[in-house]
Amino acid sequence: MKNIRLHLTAPILLLLSMLMFTTSCDTTEAGTQSDARVSRSSDSPVRFTELRHPEKVDSVLALMTMEEKVGQLNLLSSGFAETGPVLSEEYRDMIFESKLGGVFNAHTVEHTLELQRIAVEETRLGIPLLFAFDVIHGHRTIFPVPLAESATWDPGLIKKASRISAKEASAAGLHWTFTPMIDISPDPRWGRIVESHGEDPLLNSRFGVARIEGFQGEDLYDVTTIMATAKHFAAYGVPEAGRDYNTVDISERTLREVHLPPFKAAVDAGVRTFMTAFNEYDGVPATGSDFLFNRILRDEWGFDGFVVTDYTAIMEMMPHGYARDEAHAAELSINANVDMDMMSQIFLNELPGLVEQGIVKEEQVDMAVARILDMKFDLGLFDDPYRYSDYDRETETIMREDFLEFALEVAQKSIVLLKNEDQTLPLSKDTGHIAVIGPLGDNQYDLLGSWSAAGEWTDNVTLLQGIRNAVPENTRVSYTEGAKLDLHDDSQAGFDEALQLARQADVVIMALGEGRHMSGEAASRTNIDLPGAQQELLEAIHETGTPVVLVLMAGRPLDIRWADEHIPAIVNAWYLGTRSGDAIASVLFGDHNPGGKLTISWPYNVGQIPNYYYAKKTGRPIDPDQRYTSKFIDAPNAPLYPFGYGLSYTSYEYDNLRLSESEIGNTGRLTVSVDVTNTGDRTGDEIVQMYTRKMVASVTQPVRQLRDFTRITLEPGQTETVTFDLEAGQLQYLDQQLEPVLEPGTVRVYVGPNVAETLEASFEVR
Ligand code: BGC
Repeated sequence: MKNIRLHLTAPILLLLSMLMFTTSCDTTEAGTQSDARVSRSSDSPVRFTELRHPEKVDSVLALMTMEEKVGQLNLLSSGFAETGPVLSEEYRDMIFESKLGGVFNAHTVEHTLELQRIAVEETRLGIPLLFAFDVIHGHRTIFPVPLAESATWDPGLIKKASRISAKEASAAGLHWTFTPMIDISPDPRWGRIVESHGEDPLLNSRFGVARIEGFQGEDLYDVTTIMATAKHFAAYGVPEAGRDYNTVDISERTLREVHLPPFKAAVDAGVRTFMTAFNEYDGVPATGSDFLFNRILRDEWGFDGFVVTDYTAIMEMMPHGYARDEAHAAELSINANVDMDMMSQIFLNELPGLVEQGIVKEEQVDMAVARILDMKFDLGLFDDPYRYSDYDRETETIMREDFLEFALEVAQKSIVLLKNEDQTLPLSKDTGHIAVIGPLGDNQYDLLGSWSAAGEWTDNVTLLQGIRNAVPENTRVSYTEGAKLDLHDDSQAGFDEALQLARQADVVIMALGEGRHMSGEAASRTNIDLPGAQQELLEAIHETGTPVVLVLMAGRPLDIRWADEHIPAIVNAWYLGTRSGDAIASVLFGDHNPGGKLTISWPYNVGQIPNYYYAKKTGRPIDPDQRYTSKFIDAPNAPLYPFGYGLSYTSYEYDNLRLSESEIGNTGRLTVSVDVTNTGDRTGDEIVQMYTRKMVASVTQPVRQLRDFTRITLEPGQTETVTFDLEAGQLQYLDQQLEPVLEPGTVRVYVGPNVAETLEASFEVR
């Protein structure tokens, strides 16, 4: 490390000395000067955002040739083999030629130092590279997948988990993570639902902000913090049929009311970067969308960071049928104030020619470069380009003992107990023989879930191991796989052994679900049942008569109608990361009382999808006795488990819902209070939820909207009064002209343990 600092060579020193006295250079050897903040013309698409380091940025810009500028807009992925990073000769050459502004998937101190050294010491200007990575739910210490983390309903917890991830990632040389994904999805067929925080706008806003605050910290200059990315802008979570990358066609009202609030919250929280979405919205691919990026993100919200495309998304505007050719695609994107091109290399190749021909304004390119340089200054990379790549810090930080302990806590709090008939759970640790059966029972690999950054599956504690860690030596714990974790393998070859074991055992713990690559990107399903022969295996084991506990692991809700009817206890364990097995075992044996709740309505079957809780009532609300009402004739309307649902080993009673006002003005506020009592005999966490409904409005309103929530811990017999503030502003909706309003009339308030079991009260808006 020290050696490298001493080797800072001419280019960077020249640059740094220029910064000392330059505020607006107009003559340099490179020539192409422009002040990105000053020159404006009325017909220009350029959005001149405020920079954090305007003088410094201008002085660097003034030194740059057009080729060097477009190099800054180019982001490529580093090759990363199983055994570590690969630096191909092609990359090396591109860095030497100043054709890269950043590299993603490059991590570890060793790799980032090597790349940074070339950028800083071997190029004319020595501008440092940005290193990015998809640190989604952990860097090396892997936390539960985001959908699971959202089931904690505890953004503070996830902020802390993100802080830990930032510490690990920054110690591995990284400056930037492509998280949070705050795409709202009510569609479990869509594989990326695993990366979301469920179907609700408020939850996605709160968790998105928590992640941003966790990663970016108070000050981006602090070497333990890294930039976050709000992605994917916008409406990526509602592709038709749940098929990834597919067309999105929703109204501007739905876009603004449901899908945009988390992104607005991200801007307000100071997120430094945005990522475009792959999909089109209203006929225009997001990556070239003037409406999304110029009008909404820059003009309405005043976002001052930079926008990166998703992977090859500029190029994809051609197959979309929107861009004629690469030059046209570059023009459309840069004019939408999209700043950095991930993987297409179209900005690099096309922008110099477009500027030359006068098709794209040079100040448009300058503005994009300026935004990126601004962040490099913010991160302190011009002060010391190697400050994030520190061998000692890397060794001390990665997988720290306290990080692993915290990963266990998050994993425990993410678990949702879906069913527990006759108090089947918790199990006694002295159960004579526990049989663990199923392809996820002793599986380390899949516990990582989708996007596991630098996570290594060999670090993971399996369910079998977790159970063995928890029980005394004289408890027999046996295991067999029973069925394959494969969508296309129905083999029952393992059934006999599984049945034999089940017959001998006192209790069977069945570990069933999906493999980690069955959800995530490009992993949409038309069926959400248990893959392969797992359903048949479950039914066969149930037939033995030995009590069965089902532990589900998956990145989405699965169709478990049969299990819900026949299996007495069901624990939804998602993918919980490094400490999975310990967390699940602590719930199975009652060392941890589960308190997680669903952030998505769990569908009864695939045909119900989408089945989100904030639906409208319709003119013919369901009536089981009336044929011509809005309902299915072969399935209920209600989901299998409602939004906000989750059980505990104790029980809670809600009482005495009261409002501080019976009437408020349309700028007023009131408080909503309820008494919650732990009526069981164990300490537990309860997630108290508040919803509202505006009964009549000039635009029909959803039957429920989540307005606030809190996770509290109650001792047996303890009562706590939970009070929520409710402001008129929170209740606004868009009128027929898409203007925010709150019209006079009745608002009903609902408070309870989930959306379907609530106490009610009402107040009037004057
Ligand atoms: C995903 C992004 C991700 C990017 C870089 C894309 O395929 O859609 O979410 O950040 O790859 O890995």
